[in-house]
Amino acid sequence: MQTAHLASQTDFTGWRAAARRFLMNSVPPSETIWTVEGDAADLLALDTTETARPASMAFSVPRAFLALAEDAIAYRDPARFTLLYELLWRLQQDKTLLSISFDPLVHRIGGMVKAVHRDKHKMHAFVRFREITENDGPRFVAWFEPAHYIVESNAAFFVRRFPNMRWSILTPDLCAHWDGAELAFSPGATIDMAPKDDRLEETWRSYYAAIFNPARLKVKAMTKEMAQKYWRNLPEAALIKPLIASAARTTGAMIAADATEALAHSQRMVEMAKPDLFADEPEDIRAIKKEAAHCKMCPLYKDATQTVFGEGPSDAEIMLVGEQPGDKEDLAGKPFVGPAGQLLDRALDDAGIDRDKTYVTNAVKHFKFTPRGKIRLHQKPNTSEIRACNPWLQRERAIVKPKLIIALGATAAQGVFGKAMPIGKNRGHMLTLDDGTTAMITVHPSYLLRVLDQDKDREYAAFVHDLKLAAKFTKRAKAA
Ligand code: URA
Ligand code: SF4
Repeated sequence: MQTAHLASQTDFTGWRAAARRFLMNSVPPSETIWTVEGDAADLLALDTTETARPASMAFSVPRAFLALAEDAIAYRDPARFTLLYELLWRLQQDKTLLSISFDPLVHRIGGMVKAVHRDKHKMHAFVRFREITENDGPRFVAWFEPAHYIVESNAAFFVRRFPNMRWSILTPDLCAHWDGAELAFSPGATIDMAPKDDRLEETWRSYYAAIFNPARLKVKAMTKEMAQKYWRNLPEAALIKPLIASAARTTGAMIAADATEALAHSQRMVEMAKPDLFADEPEDIRAIKKEAAHCKMCPLYKDATQTVFGEGPSDAEIMLVGEQPGDKEDLAGKPFVGPAGQLLDRALDDAGIDRDKTYVTNAVKHFKFTPRGKIRLHQKPNTSEIRACNPWLQRERAIVKPKLIIALGATAAQGVFGKAMPIGKNRGHMLTLDDGTTAMITVHPSYLLRVLDQDKDREYAAFVHDLKLAAKFTKRAKAA
């Protein structure tokens, strides 16, 4: 028997080194023992490892195998180390093995990888932070019980999502901590180390009720996805049963309509709550558009005709972000179809950008106005409305993954950058967002409709100039 010691449950580097050594020594899988630091088996294991003989056996490790193994190693089953080695061993004889999906071993490891992916998605969806106060400010702490060893490989997701927040995710296996600059891990925790309640709890419930649309309620799917295990940690779980009952009674009627009032004083919660509740579903634009049609995350839905969602191919290289739908857009249900939209069309054309190839959306998806006689007078959305609507923009971004985002005007810039950005100083520059996406700020086309006649040509030319820079940027990005 030959033993390999791994430093942790997910010590892939250690596994690779040991597998390499075993292969070089032609050690068959049945002769291998794998132990993990700290495990009972590790304490008992005798080190019978031989030093490597000169490599008599040339071996290969296909890239596809490595990708598979790196995920499968997170699967919670002590047998995984041997199974992966067995797969590698057999690959030496049969290079096509990975494509034989009905092979029992390939099938089993494929299932492990799938389970790990599913678990990662669950963690994205069901981690709930609660705020605690530390000496140097707030920290957001979550408790989660993953089915597999996914904390390390999943931590980057949470860093990307909550870069500016100090947070800790506690799990029985391993805890991850982010201080705004550095990611650290500590040994597993117990549930009593996690905060249980806080002032955000209520808001969470309201939030959940607000986005909850009984029309899409599939009780079976929901209870399956939200296994009891997760329910325990979710404040909104307290709402699920009443909601299900109420949906059964009032078909079609939106429930919990007044629950949104609680949101006004808790923007932070909204920010944290980027709607991940349905992260397990494959997101495409059509699906979130349907969801957004029922959004009540801010009061603007009350007077507007409909949610005006973004439009365009989901693989667009350029995403154009405006402020909010205007009067015409509100009626048509499409972005930028009114006067500002026509001006935008012309400018895009002059800059050599095909609007049909871009994804066009707005920072706020409902029309905000004051009635003045027969007309509805446009009103600027405020910061809390821009924030409340931001999750929709984030989700559009996550699907489209544009090479370049063009923010049209101050509201759009605030939505895209998450803070006020002076236009004069920033326009026309290629800026980088937290997630690495390039973004450019320019004026809003409706600004061009308002400027004095004598300035119109100059301002229009400057707008087209910015759009040309954008076109050039995407061309260069494509060539690179
Ligand atoms: N102005 C915007 O910002 N967006 C639209 O969709 C229309 C006008
Ligand atoms: Fe929801 Fe945005 Fe409409 Fe407010 S403006 S209700 S956040 S879609």
